[in-house]
Amino acid sequence: MNAHTKTPTHSAYAATAEEAIAAQDALDVGMTSEEATEVAMQNTLLTPRFYTTDFEEMDAIDVTPVRADWDRLIAGMKADPNKGHFKKTDAWEADWEGMDPALKAEFIDFLISSCTAEFSGCVLYKEMKRRGSNEDITTLFQLMARDEARHAGFINDALREAGIRVNLGFLTQQKKYTYFRPKFIYYATYLSEKIGYARYITIFRHLEEHPEKRFHPIFQWFREWCNDEFSHGEAFALLMKTDPKLTESFTNKLWIKFFLTAVYSTMWVRDHQRPLFHEALGVDVTWYGQEVFRKTSEISKQVFPITLDIDHPRWRPNLDRMEAASRQIAAAKARGGVMGTLSRLGGMAKAGFAFVSILTIPAHKHTVPDSPVMQPAY
Ligand SMILES: [Fe+2]
Ligand SMILES: [Fe+2]
Repeated sequence: MNAHTKTPTHSAYAATAEEAIAAQDALDVGMTSEEATEVAMQNTLLTPRFYTTDFEEMDAIDVTPVRADWDRLIAGMKADPNKGHFKKTDAWEADWEGMDPALKAEFIDFLISSCTAEFSGCVLYKEMKRRGSNEDITTLFQLMARDEARHAGFINDALREAGIRVNLGFLTQQKKYTYFRPKFIYYATYLSEKIGYARYITIFRHLEEHPEKRFHPIFQWFREWCNDEFSHGEAFALLMKTDPKLTESFTNKLWIKFFLTAVYSTMWVRDHQRPLFHEALGVDVTWYGQEVFRKTSEISKQVFPITLDIDHPRWRPNLDRMEAASRQIAAAKARGGVMGTLSRLGGMAKAGFAFVSILTIPAHKHTVPDSPVMQPAY
């Protein structure tokens, strides 16, 4: 630490992403956890990725058309109601020892993947802040990077108790970055923020009703957590509103449909790989998936003119086919050799057909309100 960088006592109080990361690094001195970082480094279709984009194009956005909503949103984020929240309190009682080892393995996998996803947002937002010169844009991205760094730091706090940590500095430097042009960043990030909100609030509400199923204290933090994600999603909704073409042109509507399908089906496949985790929570994973899609679709009507027909007869069977295909691909990879390769290619073809089959389900059309602004209502 030098005189110019002030390291706060904990990432929960950090005013910037940089401070939050420094605070977390200070806690991890001498602690290595190569396996966890290795998991976080994986780049498959199902694991969280790091993104880069055309920062100049994003910096050129003019928020004038949405100025009033924009200023209100930024003021709310600057007021920082969750400062100090993402930190253990007396209510924190984690029982790692008493946890069934198979459940523990799935839960750790869930935490590592969540931490990587949170940090992926942090890295992208922090970079936009660093490269930009448009004050509206850099202010927003700095505030969102702050939140994501706190979220990732808090998950690392939870992991550290199990003797694990994700090396955030190493990830920033070594993880592969995927390039997405700005409009794809808007669609993908908007959706991941809103689906993140829907996921966290659905678990939180479920555990309010079934407190005996709360097998780890971190779930108690999910309500404030998802409110952060909700406002990040609001910001992307406003960004998209600055340019009507982004959501109204024929081609872009196809892209929106593609991203909705990709985000929903990825979540479905990934969640079905954690049966014990959902069983411990007392959550039926299929019900959970559909419930999260329903909430996300309802919210996304604020800006997207279409939603997916998740009650269509082709929907569920093809999600299940994609899940089976992904298990086949994983087993084939582990097997290796010529037979492994053939089986992997077969699995990829199956997944591809299933994806196209849901992509071609006719979408529901909506009229979109002039102002997208919404409050978290679930
Ligand atoms: Fe987050
Ligand atoms: Fe977020």
